[in-house]
Amino acid sequence: MADSLTITDNRTGKQYEIPIEYGTYPKRSAFVRAFDLRQIKVADDDFGLLSYDPSFMNTASCRSAVTFIEGDEGTLRYRGYAIEELAHKSSFLEVAYLILHGELPTPAQLEEWRWQITHHTILHENIKTFMEGFRYDAHPMGILVGTVAALSTFYPDAKNITDVRSRSIQIHRLVAKMPTIAAFAYRHSIGMPYAYPDNDLSYTGNFLNMMYKMTELKYQPDPVLEHVLDVLFILHADHEQNCSANAMRSVASSHSDPFVAVAAATAALSGPLHGGANERVLRMLQEIGHKDQVADYVKQAKSGEYRLMGFGHRVYKNYDPRARILKELAQQVFEVTGKNPLLDIALELERIALEDDYFVERKLYPNVDFYSGIIYQAMGFPTDMFPVLFALPRTVGWLAQWQEMLKDPEQKIARPRQVYTGESERSLVPLEVRG
Ligand code: ACO
Repeated sequence: MADSLTITDNRTGKQYEIPIEYGTYPKRSAFVRAFDLRQIKVADDDFGLLSYDPSFMNTASCRSAVTFIEGDEGTLRYRGYAIEELAHKSSFLEVAYLILHGELPTPAQLEEWRWQITHHTILHENIKTFMEGFRYDAHPMGILVGTVAALSTFYPDAKNITDVRSRSIQIHRLVAKMPTIAAFAYRHSIGMPYAYPDNDLSYTGNFLNMMYKMTELKYQPDPVLEHVLDVLFILHADHEQNCSANAMRSVASSHSDPFVAVAAATAALSGPLHGGANERVLRMLQEIGHKDQVADYVKQAKSGEYRLMGFGHRVYKNYDPRARILKELAQQVFEVTGKNPLLDIALELERIALEDDYFVERKLYPNVDFYSGIIYQAMGFPTDMFPVLFALPRTVGWLAQWQEMLKDPEQKIARPRQVYTGESERSLVPLEVRG
């Protein structure tokens, strides 16, 4: 039989025919349903065969039409459009619309979308009081997680997740307010008064305004830096079923509201193996200190003492296409800001690692985090803001994944199975005779 799998259970000699299904992209994403394995039993009262896949190494948890990645070739597309084309020819708000709605906006749709995002940037004044509670040196990612979760209490209507109109309002609020929270978190950490949003500026121009405005009446963002940040946001907008997108889907699958679900996704992003890696890359380059020290550092990474941060990826087994774009962008930034001295160390690290058998055999290439930190630092962002800069655009991807999950009739509350390895049933020994 075509397009099926014949499985023989050697315990019983029985044969099973399991259908093979496909995603839309030319028959490359063939899959079988794990639930079809449950019919494979040794006896009628047997639970049935489970598939065991820690860390989802080979398990699709959903069907998705948002982002396509071909890890061996280093291809990334949002809704069918190549990341290179989007980065060169569109703006972040256009891409955000594309990711969330499935199609690029017309000029009128873009104008409406821009208006909505621009007019939802302000935070309730009580949020400022809430943020005062954080210590002066609190990590801005922790502030972001806590504050976006707190927004859930300001918008109880967000619980109405089945209402399309309500979902759309929460999406406007989240995309618009994340930069405001992020900039406020930064200003809090340096003891500066908060700078309010400026509706005359672009999405990234306004973010720079809220970060850096001092006493001037009107903040004028540098157009090159404003553009580069816009491209950085495009590159980070979605990346299919990564750790934080999975957290978003998993938490929201219990029908919790999108504010707490985005808080959970942000928490997942904060770890050094995910969005926290760009911060670690910078610290690593500073620790290496000089390009002459790179070879020694790589040797230690190979011995397993530590990992080269910004290298390797669960899906890409080739150069991350986002890292390639970032490498070009770095030059544009340095023309404005002057060269970041860490760039020479990064280039040397990349050169040595890409020639080294250890990295070649394991297909470990620079990922998006490798160059983003160097650019952010040159633009004046402090290191602990790097993961926050990742979370802002990724909010768009999380919300697209959330909507897609809610609309998918096959999705239910996320609830993996386990393979139990503990004790079988035993009787309680009374406390006084234990020990
Ligand atoms: N430096 C040195 N060795 C590495 C690195 C690295 N950065 N990454 C993986 N390896 C090695 C592992 O030690 C392992 O070697 P082994 O087979 O001899 O045991 C092999 O490569 C495979 O590594 P895994 O951990 O099994 O790969 P996995 O797919 O689980 O991990 C990950 C992917 C987490 C990104 C990993 O490459 C890593 O830790 N990289 C550094 C952190 C980083 O840059 N994270 C950002 C990811 S991109 C993003 O989130 C936006």
